[in-house]
Amino acid sequence: MFITFEGIDFCGKSTQVELLQNYLINKGKKVLLIREPGGTEISEKIRTILLDKKNYKMSIESEILLFSASRAQLVREKIRPFLDDGYYVISDRFHDSTTAYQGYGRGIPIESVMNINKVAIDNTVPDITFFIDIPVSVSVNRKNLKHPNELDRIEISKDHFYEKVRSGYLQIALQEKRFRVIDGTLNIAEIHNIITSELILFEKKELV
Ligand code: TMP
Repeated sequence: MFITFEGIDFCGKSTQVELLQNYLINKGKKVLLIREPGGTEISEKIRTILLDKKNYKMSIESEILLFSASRAQLVREKIRPFLDDGYYVISDRFHDSTTAYQGYGRGIPIESVMNINKVAIDNTVPDITFFIDIPVSVSVNRKNLKHPNELDRIEISKDHFYEKVRSGYLQIALQEKRFRVIDGTLNIAEIHNIITSELILFEKKELV
């Protein structure tokens, strides 16, 4: 089963990814946890280029192609072989991030984004996607707790960019049945319980 997590920066998804990983391991499942961009030697090198603040000259077209190159490698080198081997693959971000950030956020036409996504992932589409939704104001408050030096090239983006990314995600959620929108302002345990309940429900439906 292929599970992805999405959301704007500082939504708390990485915490939930780890909780879900532990939950599945405790149930005796084989789990591969990955994060995007990254997850293979080549993809991690691309991540460094993408998030380096020194690369402020990067065009939005280079940006989308680099995210997608990182993903194309990850899909073929890790995700597909592990899924074939019966693993639960959990990814902290996947192609919906590209649609939300580079499409809705940066303004690359959605049709072009879809085509690029198709090349990168082909038929490796997640079974279920948890979108941890928080208002941009909550993200900004959490961001302000960090030292500016800790923020990467994307995280230093302005609030109005994040408003576009968030509404982009909500748009995708309306179109994609695999999306589960979760209120990210709930506490950590509540969110985790919603996620595991949704997963149980999904697996029951799959068995029918
Ligand atoms: P992370 O902070 O969740 O590790 O993600 C890295 C940053 O890259 C985050 O600000 C979201 C951004 N991003 C995109 O803009 N497009 C993408 O396709 C992905 C995977 C991430």
